[in-house]
Amino acid sequence: MTDLKGALSQAVSSVFEGLGLDASLGRVGVSDRPDLADFQCNGALAAAKAARRNPREIAAEVIAALNADPKASELFSSVEVAGAGFVNLRLSDAALTQRATEIVADPRLGAALNETPRRIIIDYGGPNVAKPMHVGHLRSSIIGEAIKRIYRFCGDTVWGDAHFGDWGFQMGLLILAAGDEDPRLRAIGEGAADADLSALADLDLPLLDRLYPMAAAKAKEDTDYRDRARKATAELQAGKEGYLTLWHRFVEVSRVALRREFDAMGVHFDLWNGESDADPFIPDMVTDLRAQGLLVEDQGAQIVRVAREGDKRELPPLLVISSEGSAMYGTTDLATIVGRRRDQDPHLMLYCVDQRQADHFAQVFRAAELAGYAPEGGLEHIGFGTMNGADGKPFKTRAGGVLKLHDLIEMARDKARARLKEAGLGAELSPEAFEETAHKVAIAALKFADLQNYRGTSYVFDLDRFTSFEGKTGPYLLYQAVRVKSLLRKAADEGSVGGAVMIVEPAERDLVLTLDAFNTAVAEAYDKKAPNFIAEHAYRLAQAFSKFYAACPVLVAKDAATKASRLTLSATALRQLEMALDLLGIETPERM
Ligand code: ARG
Repeated sequence: MTDLKGALSQAVSSVFEGLGLDASLGRVGVSDRPDLADFQCNGALAAAKAARRNPREIAAEVIAALNADPKASELFSSVEVAGAGFVNLRLSDAALTQRATEIVADPRLGAALNETPRRIIIDYGGPNVAKPMHVGHLRSSIIGEAIKRIYRFCGDTVWGDAHFGDWGFQMGLLILAAGDEDPRLRAIGEGAADADLSALADLDLPLLDRLYPMAAAKAKEDTDYRDRARKATAELQAGKEGYLTLWHRFVEVSRVALRREFDAMGVHFDLWNGESDADPFIPDMVTDLRAQGLLVEDQGAQIVRVAREGDKRELPPLLVISSEGSAMYGTTDLATIVGRRRDQDPHLMLYCVDQRQADHFAQVFRAAELAGYAPEGGLEHIGFGTMNGADGKPFKTRAGGVLKLHDLIEMARDKARARLKEAGLGAELSPEAFEETAHKVAIAALKFADLQNYRGTSYVFDLDRFTSFEGKTGPYLLYQAVRVKSLLRKAADEGSVGGAVMIVEPAERDLVLTLDAFNTAVAEAYDKKAPNFIAEHAYRLAQAFSKFYAACPVLVAKDAATKASRLTLSATALRQLEMALDLLGIETPERM
């Protein structure tokens, strides 16, 4: 099944070809002037330039050939030259109705599948043991989850991997801090014969939350402390039993808490692998890098030089083994590539991580390429900008600290409750249902505010605007979806059912044209790894529905056939809207 744009492109391209012109110039796009046309082709201008001819003349030839082709002319009701040589097309009602009927019957609501499915790993979320998640992790989770859903929807086999930060320097810091806090924990770490393992139970989330910032602050001032933490990290990685016991507990406690937060956000990983899972691959990898002559000694450390001639600025080498003998952030990333190659053998690994880590990924990817660990073009950093405060700098709390994700979600929920009340919504809901709706509104607000921007763009955090039921917001979209649901419930209550689609009113045409554009939105989001195309589509669809609903009475339509057609259009718009929102990781409530 092709969308209308595809069908018209095919027809116009073959006409271009028949006229001895470049077929690719026959591509058709949505019209810039919906008042004049549904679609337009600008190819006559380029063709005229190449042939040094008058573009309007070429456009006229294209139009004559289109009119002469019986199959092509079924698609449009009018085709005209406009301006400098644009070909303007207005679809025929028959073509539009046929397409609407296809979309209604299609479980994918008009979106095509990929021709060749691939295996893809998306590395996103990136939470760390004992460090609370912050808004950078929020963006990674929101964008990564959406990209995962979009890829899967298009037919790829996709694994989302949290790539848990559980093997670096912060582990050494925690081991020291835990020992300083409680001598029983120190005894466990040192592997004392009489160590009291029940002390591990006291190592809970509040304690971890307190220990890490303390230790991190201390390491900043105290070089001796920092050196001891580095040593502890190296010993942990070398397999010191007591340290591993403590480490297991850190990981377990953090994981439970993180999973709860991700669940609340509708973010679900297929793999909960951590940096530590790459550890078994490191020894062989190091041997191999050395054998390939890529690993060189530099001031006691082992590095891979990745700078290339022609680089605009010099890329520092990848640090593989520190002078203390520990694996670094880049080491575990490189070894993770080796592991994924063995376990999933993906065509592509996408890293949805803050743009500020671009150099890190450039280093890792180049090292992987040099060593032959990744398929050609198989590694890609999907960077994103920051969420900023009103001052234009990365968002901070009022006290100037990093905002914890947990607190942010709490704030959004408070605001969502207030917004619902202020809009007079949810008054009939039970307290539990109200809470559930408020939660969905909050998550929709945060996610949509993020995803409506191209991921590379930074945006300003403005909870008031994000949670408004008006404008380009998540809550607006939920409200529109709930409105359709309530309309369909009423129809079901009175026993009305949908029927064949008939397109009469301009608002009906617009709605069907918008439904048809879903395919393009999905394709663009897929190709550019950019969910904002779906967000934009969801918004346009909600608006098209809203206009349709205002102009075209449904339950009180003038006759039964019109009513049945409009019910079908409403139900289809809702299904597609919910599908688009689901691709963004946004759930709609039943009522509000
Ligand atoms: N844990 C890292 C951080 O908090 C992000 C991990 C990103 N993924 C990766 N494969 N390096 O900055």
